[in-house]
Amino acid sequence: MDKFLIEGPCKIKGKVKISGAKNSALVLLAATLLFEKPVTLKNLPRVRDINTMLNLLKSLGSKITLSKDRKTARIQNKKKLKTFASYSLVKTMRASILVLGPLISKFHKSTTSYPGGCNIGLRPVNYHLSALKKLGMKYQIKKGYIHAKSNGRLLGTTIKFSKISVGATENTIIAACLARGKTIIKNCAIEPEIKDLTNFLNCAGAKITWKGRTCLITGVNSLNETDYSVMADRIETGTFCVAATIAQGDLEIQNLNPKNIKTELNILKKAGAKIRVFENKIFIKGPKVIKPIKNIKTKEWPGIATDMQSQLMVLMCKANGESSITENIFENRFLHASELQRLGAKIKIINNKATIQGNTKLIGAELMSSDLRASVALVLAAMVSRGKSTINRVYHLDRGYENIEKKLRKIGVKIKRLK
Ligand code: UD1
Repeated sequence: MDKFLIEGPCKIKGKVKISGAKNSALVLLAATLLFEKPVTLKNLPRVRDINTMLNLLKSLGSKITLSKDRKTARIQNKKKLKTFASYSLVKTMRASILVLGPLISKFHKSTTSYPGGCNIGLRPVNYHLSALKKLGMKYQIKKGYIHAKSNGRLLGTTIKFSKISVGATENTIIAACLARGKTIIKNCAIEPEIKDLTNFLNCAGAKITWKGRTCLITGVNSLNETDYSVMADRIETGTFCVAATIAQGDLEIQNLNPKNIKTELNILKKAGAKIRVFENKIFIKGPKVIKPIKNIKTKEWPGIATDMQSQLMVLMCKANGESSITENIFENRFLHASELQRLGAKIKIINNKATIQGNTKLIGAELMSSDLRASVALVLAAMVSRGKSTINRVYHLDRGYENIEKKLRKIGVKIKRLK
C-alpha cells in the first residue's frame, strides 16, 4: 500500500490549479443513466472514485470514451441498460447509491447493493429510499440488496425531507426529472454540487427551478444531447487555502469559483490570512501568527463544510490560543484527532465538540489515514511538523485528490510517494 513521506516544516509558494469537483462529477455521471442521447462531461478529476463510478456505469452497459487526459468522458447508453449495481462496486464507494434514482426513473427497476457504513458514521440511506418511494418506487431489502421497481414512470408528488441530505436530494432530483407531472421537494440540500447537477440537467432539457431550499421539477419525457463542464472542487480549493494559511505560504490558486468557498475564506481571514479574490482565482498569504477561533461549527451549505473540518482543526493546532470545533453533520468525524495527537497536538473531544489548544510544536511521526478528508489533514499537519512523517494508506487520498503530491511538490512541499 502506498505511503507518503513528508519532511517538514515546509514553506509554500507558487501557483496551483484546482481540478473538477469529485462530488459533483460523481452525481453528474450517475445522472447520465437517464440519457439515451450522448453526453459529454468535461473537467472530470482524475481520482479513484471517478474510476469506480465509470466502472459502475460500464457494468450497467454504458459505452464510455475517455479523452487522452482522462478529463473528458463521452457517454452513450444503449436503449436498455442493465439495472444491477453489484456489491463489489458499491462497497468501495457509498456514492454508488446515486445510481438508484436514475435506474428506477428510466428503467423502472433496479437491484442496487445496500451501501455499508463507513468510518465517519453510520450513513444510512433511509431518506433516499423514502423519497423515491413517494415518487412510486416499491422496494424490499434482501440479502444486502435494494430490490426496487415501479409501475412504469414515476409520478410527481410533494416530498419534504425531515433532515437535509446532499445525496438524498441528488437521488430524488435525478429521479423526478423523468417523472410524470410536477415534483416539489422541500428542505433540500443546496450545496453548489447540487446546483451544478440541476444546471447540467436543465442544459439537457430538464425543467428544474429553485426557491430557497425548495426544488420544483416538471417531468420531461427525455433528455437531449449535452456537453457540460464540471464545477471546480471547492474542498480542494479550501484545502490549499488552509495549506497557505498554516505554512506562511504565498499561493495563487487558479481555476475555481471563490463564491463556493466564501464561508471558509472568512474563517481563514479571521485566522489572519491575507486573501485577494478575483473572478476565478485567489491570492492567499499566511500570517506569522495564526489567531485562534472559538465556535467553528460545521453546517449544511451555506455553513462551514464538514469536508473542511479536519483541515481547519490542523490550522487551529497552530493557532495562538484555544479554539473549538463542533461537528454537526457526521457522528464520528474526529478520527484525525488521535493521529494529530501523535504529532503532539493538544485536542480534547467531548461528544461532537473538539477543543484545541494551539501553539503546538508538532513533531513528525508515523500516521495512519482513516478517510479522505482525515488523510488530507494529516498531510497538512505533516507539512508543518518538524522532521519526517510517514502517512500510511494514502489510497484514501487517491479517492478524491487529483495528483496531490505533484501539486504539493510544485509549491515547495517535500513529499514523496513510497510504493
Ligand atoms: C455528501 C458528500 C460528502 C459530504 C456530505 C455532507 C458526496 C459524494 N459526498 O455525502 O463529501 O461530507 O455530503 O456535506 O457528495 N443521512 C441519513 N439518512 C440518509 C441520508 C443521510 O440519516 O438517507 C444523514 C447522514 O448520516 C449524515 C447527514 O444525514 O449524518 C448528512 O449526510 P448527507 O448530506 O446525505 O451526506 P452524503 O450525501 O452521504
